[in-house]
Amino acid sequence: MKVNGRHYKTIWLESSEVVMIDQNKLPFEFTLHRCVDYKSTCTAIINMTVRGAGAIGAAAGFAMAQAFISGTDPEKARLEIINTRPTARDLFYAVDKVYSAGMVNYTSSDNEGIKEAIKAAQEVAHENENAGKAIGIYGNELFKPGARVLTHCNAGWLAFVDYGSALAPIYEAHHAGKNIHVYVDETRPRGQGARLTAWELNNEEVPHTIIPDNAAALLMSRGIIDLVITGADRIAANGDTANKIGTLEKAILAKHYGIPFYIAAPSSTIDLNTKTGNDIIIEERSQDEVLKQTGMDENGTLHTVLVASPGSPAYNPAFDVTPAEFITGYISEKGITSSNILLKENNIKLPNN
Ligand code: MRU
Repeated sequence: MKVNGRHYKTIWLESSEVVMIDQNKLPFEFTLHRCVDYKSTCTAIINMTVRGAGAIGAAAGFAMAQAFISGTDPEKARLEIINTRPTARDLFYAVDKVYSAGMVNYTSSDNEGIKEAIKAAQEVAHENENAGKAIGIYGNELFKPGARVLTHCNAGWLAFVDYGSALAPIYEAHHAGKNIHVYVDETRPRGQGARLTAWELNNEEVPHTIIPDNAAALLMSRGIIDLVITGADRIAANGDTANKIGTLEKAILAKHYGIPFYIAAPSSTIDLNTKTGNDIIIEERSQDEVLKQTGMDENGTLHTVLVASPGSPAYNPAFDVTPAEFITGYISEKGITSSNILLKENNIKLPNN
């Protein structure tokens, strides 16, 4: 996608360094962050310099390749990388692919796996980018001219290598001249909607409005939302879907008001080893994310301030799980499917509980 007229990807490998857009500084500053080894790429995943299911998948794949490059024990590095963030399936998918590729000819003395690991990491990143492109083309079919869509969190190009998942169909519909309007949930506590999705939509000149997280019911009850599209961090074998905290609420509301609710995600987000949403590990993050906020003053200085009663504790689950029954369909690089078709197309046999 373009930033100030120049094409950027969210993350890429340059020789042995992983280069990424620093998402913690957006929308205030556009800067690139360089990770010289797998440990610094792990740190960037943990502190959310890079975030979003697809982007952390690519980052984890590159980190695994960096471990081969530096001659680190691959198993030790693999464990460190998969322990950076627990919920997004793409992270585990990427690490498995790169680790397996690198181990084919690996011996600790000559580290033959380097070339294969780099190749696999680049493939994961390309796959991720191509899936976003296809999701955009398929998802565009859902937009009637003048459609008003609600999205939650950031599942745009920043959350992938390029294109995005939930925002890919929005870009496609916008570029097709459908005159759409996007309502962007602010997505407390970290504000990925207000900060990142709004920044992306501004760059692409897509008409949009940021709304408070708790405004969706009012808009839906007044007939202002035609469809909802969000991304996914992990889709269980039965179609239950983990996504940013607050997604479940929107799905329940959408069902109540008869509004279609779609999940957009590449098939690498489907986890056949997770039977249902109950088996998905939900990341819990620092209470500081709830109690404090960071913003920029009119002089361009960033400040972090307390926005809650001093001394009160907070609880900060980062994801929730939307049961398949609330999901109208899944938009993947293979097309748009209901949860039943999704199971069939991926040869998933429903678990016998
Ligand atoms: O905690 P984050 O910002 O890494 O959250 C993950 C997500 O980006 C979302 O849940 C998103 O909606 C789906 S992933 C593209």
